[in-house]
Amino acid sequence: MTASDAARREERNRAVAAAVADIRAIERDHGVTADGLARMKRRLLELTKRADLFPEADFPPPEGGAEFPAHVYRIAEDDDHRFALYVQSALGALDTPAHNHTTWAVIAGIHGDELNRFWERTADGGVAETGRRVVRAGTAVAFLPDELHSIHVGPGNRVVNFHMYGLALDRLHEREYFRDDDGSWRNFPAQQGIIEARG
Ligand SMILES: [Fe+2]
Repeated sequence: MTASDAARREERNRAVAAAVADIRAIERDHGVTADGLARMKRRLLELTKRADLFPEADFPPPEGGAEFPAHVYRIAEDDDHRFALYVQSALGALDTPAHNHTTWAVIAGIHGDELNRFWERTADGGVAETGRRVVRAGTAVAFLPDELHSIHVGPGNRVVNFHMYGLALDRLHEREYFRDDDGSWRNFPAQQGIIEARG
């Protein structure tokens, strides 16, 4: 590791800690509400302005042909597993089914295009699309615990972005996703294989 790598890592740790501290305060003061989430989005977008601290070389995607075409790097998480912040580094194609999170979620773009499709549950137990937004540098999306989205990255596309959750992804055991092929809701298992990248 060169001196400039070490300096970048130190500055990254400081910037991440400051953002997480602000987001903790936002949740405390504004709750898990549309207003609270809008404020969290703005704060996470502020962190994306320091893209220089999150170079792609520090957060490489999986080798081609990986089963899940994204690596999830943990860059912050409280001792009680709350306020978990990740860098997700994908090399598409990546398509997830519609799913909820059972905690709040914020995604903010650093590099590349990640299409988010928004869904709502229908009376007959299915899902209907309610909108879509491309997350890229300067844009963010946020979800209340029961809100649904799906994520899509085109073939060969590189995407690096922040994913932040009220509770760590490997602790979310009750998420649900919708299966298009048989129209059923299934358990979305807690995330495996998160790469430790703190400190
Ligand atoms: Fe999600």
